[in-house]
Amino acid sequence: MDVIRLAGIAKSYRNGEVVTPVLHGIDLVVGAGEYVALMGPSGSGKSTLMNLLGLLDRADAGHYQLAGRDVTELNAAQQAEVRNQTIGFVFQSFNLLKRMNVQENVALPLLYAGQSRAAARTRAQELLDQVGLGALAKRLPSQLSGGQQQRVAIARALACRPPLLLADEPTGNLDTQTTEDVLALLDALNRDQGLSIVLVTHENDVAAHAKRLVRLKDGRVVYDGAPGGAG
Ligand SMILES: Nc1ncnc2c1ncn2[C@@H]1O[C@H](COP(=O)(O)OP(=O)(O)OP(=O)(O)O)[C@@H](O)[C@H]1O
Ligand SMILES: [Mg+2]
Repeated sequence: MDVIRLAGIAKSYRNGEVVTPVLHGIDLVVGAGEYVALMGPSGSGKSTLMNLLGLLDRADAGHYQLAGRDVTELNAAQQAEVRNQTIGFVFQSFNLLKRMNVQENVALPLLYAGQSRAAARTRAQELLDQVGLGALAKRLPSQLSGGQQQRVAIARALACRPPLLLADEPTGNLDTQTTEDVLALLDALNRDQGLSIVLVTHENDVAAHAKRLVRLKDGRVVYDGAPGGAG
């Protein structure tokens, strides 16, 4: 099954009288278990596209099927439900809650999903073990390195077992070594658990971890093929 099917997606931003067209008829199919890097110049529409994929914003035209379900016409509450069940998000800024320890941060989406405190704690610890941070569960985010914080954010994103991870420049704030740690984790999640990943990056070295590269320019797909290929 395809995890993402976009057909003819168009998007403009409107601020009063000013209309900024950003995406022009994007067609994109991502199969389950794929690992796609999304690249393109600043302003080409990568984050706009990720926000549409993540049901954080709506297209003006086109159709979107997410995990086999047409989500184009869903209302906001229905979109939120699909989003919570289907998508994990990771951003450049880790967005961890400062006053909660690492385990509590990872447990939070599970509590929102209605799990008991005990079940959420157990699952959070299991996730932290999986990302190699089990021993740091009781630390505050500020007591972790950037790469460790991003691994916590990945654990949190995967708490409710979404089939799709959307990552917008997840290594943008990290140095070379910690970038490698985070990329190794994403590689393993894709390879061992069949997690589908769409990752935005400006770095060729990061994109090289994906199995497919999609390049945007001026809101259009101008390359779709092997990473390191022309474009
Ligand atoms: N809320 C908004 N209102 C108006 N214009 C916006 C808004 N968000 C983005 N834009 C414009 O849409 C275009 C695409 O922005 P987007 O953030 O998708 O680019 P990007 O490819 O993610 O760039 P970067 O690599 O710098 O993150 C830009 O011209 C930007 O100025
Ligand atoms: Mg962006």
